[in-house]
Amino acid sequence: MATKKKTTTNKTSKKTSAKAEAPRERDEAEGAAPGGEAEIVVEAPAEAAEVLREPAELAYADQLEALRQNDEDRPPASWRLSPRAVLRYIVGGESLAASIDGRTRTVEITRKFFGDDALVERAIVTLASERALLLVGEPGTGKSWLSEHLAAAICGNSSLTIQGTAGTTEEHIKYSWNVARVIAEGYALDNLVPSPTMNAMRTGGLLRFEEITRCVPDVQDALVSVLSDKAIAVPELPRSPLVWAKPGFNVIATANSRDQGVNELSAALKRRFNYVHIPLIADARTERAVVTQRTTELMQRYGIEARVEPAVLDLLTTVFREIREGKSNEGVGLKKPGTTMSTAEAIGCALDATLHARYFGDGRVSAADIARNLAGSVVKEDLGDLAALREYATLVAKKRAADDPRWREFHEALTVAVR
Ligand SMILES: Nc1ncnc2c1ncn2[C@@H]1O[C@H](COP(=O)(O)OP(=O)(O)O)[C@@H](O)[C@H]1O
Ligand SMILES: [Mg+2]
Repeated sequence: MATKKKTTTNKTSKKTSAKAEAPRERDEAEGAAPGGEAEIVVEAPAEAAEVLREPAELAYADQLEALRQNDEDRPPASWRLSPRAVLRYIVGGESLAASIDGRTRTVEITRKFFGDDALVERAIVTLASERALLLVGEPGTGKSWLSEHLAAAICGNSSLTIQGTAGTTEEHIKYSWNVARVIAEGYALDNLVPSPTMNAMRTGGLLRFEEITRCVPDVQDALVSVLSDKAIAVPELPRSPLVWAKPGFNVIATANSRDQGVNELSAALKRRFNYVHIPLIADARTERAVVTQRTTELMQRYGIEARVEPAVLDLLTTVFREIREGKSNEGVGLKKPGTTMSTAEAIGCALDATLHARYFGDGRVSAADIARNLAGSVVKEDLGDLAALREYATLVAKKRAADDPRWREFHEALTVAVR
């Protein structure tokens, strides 16, 4: 094992979460091949965080402020940062001197989204244009994550969000009324309950519309007028006034490619969106970097004291990739399960294994912890997927067990878990 290196120390202030710690995770996230790296060690925070999950604009406030102070270009109307600075926030990889809370210090900008930088550029350019942005891809490819960070960097508010479901109504998209007050006082602008869309329009901010294709077409169409007129009419009021959007207003929607059959976007709406397709992470190294960085952040958030060796995370990402691709590194064909086996699920499995090691083990995450939690990630509604794991245990893990103790441990625990 390489030298031990702490990614966090005891937290002394409740504000230290991802903001202060994130920069130090970089080394691991983009480090060299497994073996030559430090173990991830997370110790218990001195105080529990006040909220389970801060929005990106709070969690990464120092990085956003440092980029603002170092921004050399002019931001578009209502934007907090110039497009170039937004890109630098998303792709990370630099250190900036900035005055934070009256003290000058160096702030490292961490990578938020791992993938093609050109794709992020196109997303940013779209948000500065007349058209809205639609991020499309398989579940767990980081669409919501990218959308949150774009909103945080561009307008400083990622919480103007509508979650699309079969039950989403036109009122959720436009506005509703405080019924008790309308009965008492009649229709008046004060009695109107604005939607996140209306709030984004009034402030020149970004509306995040999650899983837009889950909404029925009639409801999707409510968005057409918002996107084309950049205004919402309120016909219940005298002279049907319009609530106009301030410059800067735009929409970032996400859609799962697996849901496309559920409700296609209407032709009218399609024309108003630029599509950016988010692919599954192509190479193993990048995927391991994402899993390492996010697992560390989540361990900090939950205040779990645990240790993870890079080789164990390497084994985890290898398993996920091979099963997802239906082929082992040695070229053995494998059954593909019904689940996506996305990077997000790999992160979930790593966190479960960490919790397991912390609460029922000695705090060191082993390959056996990964094996025990793998079944929960892979086998969802289709119990037939257990067969895919059994096959992986015999055709792949067993072979590697002969000359690698970690794979041996993994194989033994997986065989028991899938029995
Ligand atoms: N390319 C990526 N870069 C950074 N994080 C990613 C990437 N792909 C997945 N993730 C991580 O996976 C998790 C889930 O992603 P999410 O945005 O919810 O997926 P989606 O909305 O596409 O279903 C997040 O914690 C995110 O950090
Ligand atoms: Mg999502």
